[in-house]
Amino acid sequence: MSRLPLPRYPNGWFQVAYSDEVPAGAVLPLKYFGKDLVIFRDEDGVLAVLDAHCPHLGAHLGYGGRMEGKCVRCPFHAWLYDASGKCVSVPYSDKAPPARAKVRAWTVREVNGLVMVWHHAEGIEPTFEIPVNAEYGSDDWTPYEKARWKIKTHNQEMAENAVDSAHFHYVHGTVERPTSQATVDGVVLRVLSQTRMRTPMGKVSGTVESISHGFGYSVTRFTGIVDTLLAAGVTAIDEDYVDVRFSFMVRKQVDRAVTSTVGEHFMAEIKRQLAQDIPIWENKIYIDPPLVVDNDGPIGIFRRWTKQFYSEPGAAASRGLPVTAG
Ligand code: FES
Ligand SMILES: [Fe+2]
Repeated sequence: MSRLPLPRYPNGWFQVAYSDEVPAGAVLPLKYFGKDLVIFRDEDGVLAVLDAHCPHLGAHLGYGGRMEGKCVRCPFHAWLYDASGKCVSVPYSDKAPPARAKVRAWTVREVNGLVMVWHHAEGIEPTFEIPVNAEYGSDDWTPYEKARWKIKTHNQEMAENAVDSAHFHYVHGTVERPTSQATVDGVVLRVLSQTRMRTPMGKVSGTVESISHGFGYSVTRFTGIVDTLLAAGVTAIDEDYVDVRFSFMVRKQVDRAVTSTVGEHFMAEIKRQLAQDIPIWENKIYIDPPLVVDNDGPIGIFRRWTKQFYSEPGAAASRGLPVTAG
């Protein structure tokens, strides 16, 4: 069981891969939301994520499965599955495949170079979309610099970081506490902070705008000495762990050395802060309602925003994860 009195798997979009990790013809295993999954891409570039286990005799399609046209062939007895999860051929039987020879297909989107899967505990179709970042693919910005962690925490605990103003000084040693304003617009939480950071050029003031689209995805834009962008994906692996992917981009400077120096410093600073947060997150308990005082930051606004991403709190985690076929 989760250590937190929150459903383990909130609803929303969650990153399960990068687009460039799954070239045409690739068949790969995944594990998220406590489920074994398989991801594959056909020759036309169409991507699919299915429940992994073949309903025939249970082989994992992601270990030895092979693409054939638009379908994946099971490594065990060669049954053939299409992107909707339906078995379209049993090569050694003259009859049509049994109607029950079908695995669940998850709803998938590719946006900003990320492969996102829709998870909803009640099987409801996507109720929002992840917007395109103008910076992604632009010649004015560097490609992603990627970093990844496996952390024993919950999506909500990590997301609360952005609105927890007081911890920045005491955990991260930032020069002063950032002042943060949070606004909510439906599924979107926008946190605007003024902060000061130490850099090789001394202390610089900067603006940090963090926009979360549910728990699974946020984009944070830092403006100050140089513009940087961080696309963060946090996806529950199982009852205990989340898979964290940080994708950094830096706006190119005329002087390339400056771009890479500032970019590296910025990434190092974010990684340093995350390393400081991890032991807190991995060992804390969840207090609800929290005991908030002046200057704690907009934690109350955050907590109210979080509630919309849970279906039937307490029940969803045990109900399985039905997601409609594509
Ligand atoms: S287990 Fe997949 S075809 Fe038999
Ligand atoms: Fe932090």
